[in-house]
Amino acid sequence: MNHNTNKNTVTIETNSSSMQAPSFQGTMGPDVIDLRSMPQNLGLYSFDPGLIGTATCSSKITFIDGEKGILLHRGYPIEELATHANFTETAYLLLYGELPTLEQYHVFKKDMNTHRLLNEQIRNFFNGFRRDAHPMAILCGTVSALSAFYHDGLNISQPEDRDLSARRLIAKTATIAAWAYKYSIGEPFIYPDEEMSFSENFLHMLFARPGNHYKVNPVLARAIDRILVLHADHEQNASTTTVRLVGSTGSNPYACISAGIAALWGPAHGGANEAALNMLKSIGTRDGIPAFLEKAKDRNSTVRLMGFGHRVYKNFDPRAKILQETCREVIAELGLERDPLLDLAMELEKVATHDEYFIKRGLYPNVDFYSGLILKALGIPENMFTVLFAVARTVGWVSQWKEMIEDPTARIVRPRQLYIGSNRRKFTPIHERG
Ligand code: CMC
Repeated sequence: MNHNTNKNTVTIETNSSSMQAPSFQGTMGPDVIDLRSMPQNLGLYSFDPGLIGTATCSSKITFIDGEKGILLHRGYPIEELATHANFTETAYLLLYGELPTLEQYHVFKKDMNTHRLLNEQIRNFFNGFRRDAHPMAILCGTVSALSAFYHDGLNISQPEDRDLSARRLIAKTATIAAWAYKYSIGEPFIYPDEEMSFSENFLHMLFARPGNHYKVNPVLARAIDRILVLHADHEQNASTTTVRLVGSTGSNPYACISAGIAALWGPAHGGANEAALNMLKSIGTRDGIPAFLEKAKDRNSTVRLMGFGHRVYKNFDPRAKILQETCREVIAELGLERDPLLDLAMELEKVATHDEYFIKRGLYPNVDFYSGLILKALGIPENMFTVLFAVARTVGWVSQWKEMIEDPTARIVRPRQLYIGSNRRKFTPIHERG
């Protein structure tokens, strides 16, 4: 990818030598310093274990300004996409860089809907999992297994193959996710309906039963769709970085997305929505809030207020703002104002956002705080929360994966380290060791 070289350069000096590092200017956001020649010029590496101060790639897909709470996809504000675009339209935008025309949208939608069906043999995979397996485990394994079924589309040097795999991944991940849930509750799998929208079909596959006609509530389908749009991409987060890293080795796209799902699973990332709900249950009642917050603020404790804080957003998470509104709408639509858990969540949010500890550190509710509450209100089981996140983020993952493969400057990701182990020493044969 071409970079705009800035006039500014940064001089890096050691006692014995120095180098001029060029800086690059993005369309928006801070400039970056190109340190790629530093090992060669100075014999030094930068040290940044959490990649806090490191841009690992250049990208045209998503822009975040954490201080101002701005999130743009291909230049469009998330607030506008969440209000006016559905998930399929957002997927097209992320994949191809432009909003679709009406005709492009219909062609894309029709094609995506036909990809929802899974090869019938994939059903057999589910039987290999224990009945009580976490659906994320089933999703991770089964998405990876798709590469064993869809051999056409695996020549990643071909644009048509990349596109075919990307579309398959977005469409089929939702079917696998719904079937993972059905398997865990012992109900028969529900086949996808090609006439329904992405969200309607997802609810249909989750909640329909043979012999029991399930009518999708449009308000709830819209809420799910909004959650999907809000989770579709988020720049170079841990799971997207994982997808790019695995992709940089030339692995097939199914393996890359499966690795992304594994990274998303952790409670510091996509697992936070499930963890937030579990946290609420452990707090129990409003009376439990002060003691819990004391633990969350205690540096000697590992307890954290789940669904609060973000590496990038330090004032507010724009996605959380939108979902806060949706959350209230869903609660009102379903008449759940008196639900004790939702009531507890609202109180916890109020207390924490007025607490000096959280204010001082810029810790605000993130997208996972509200998405968990909405999903709970919609009757989606907790162990499916992160799965739904994965279904949405597959769009971002495949878009970022495609962008990386199409970037001629991309190289295998191979960082270095600061070695702090033993010095070179002589091997002692086992019978001579004391
Ligand atoms: N509860 C209590 N204290 C916190 C929290 C929290 N949720 N988050 C950060 N802190 C404190 C932390 O202890 C530290 O305090 P001090 O300066 O006194 O040492 C300070 O705030 C800075 O925290 P950090 O760990 O350096 O921040 P980070 O950028 O490395 O971590 C985070 C970001 C999201 C992992 C973290 O805020 C967290 O663990 N939050 C809870 C889990 C969560 O909700 N994750 C979802 C993130 S949004 C969706 C996604 O990306 O998947």
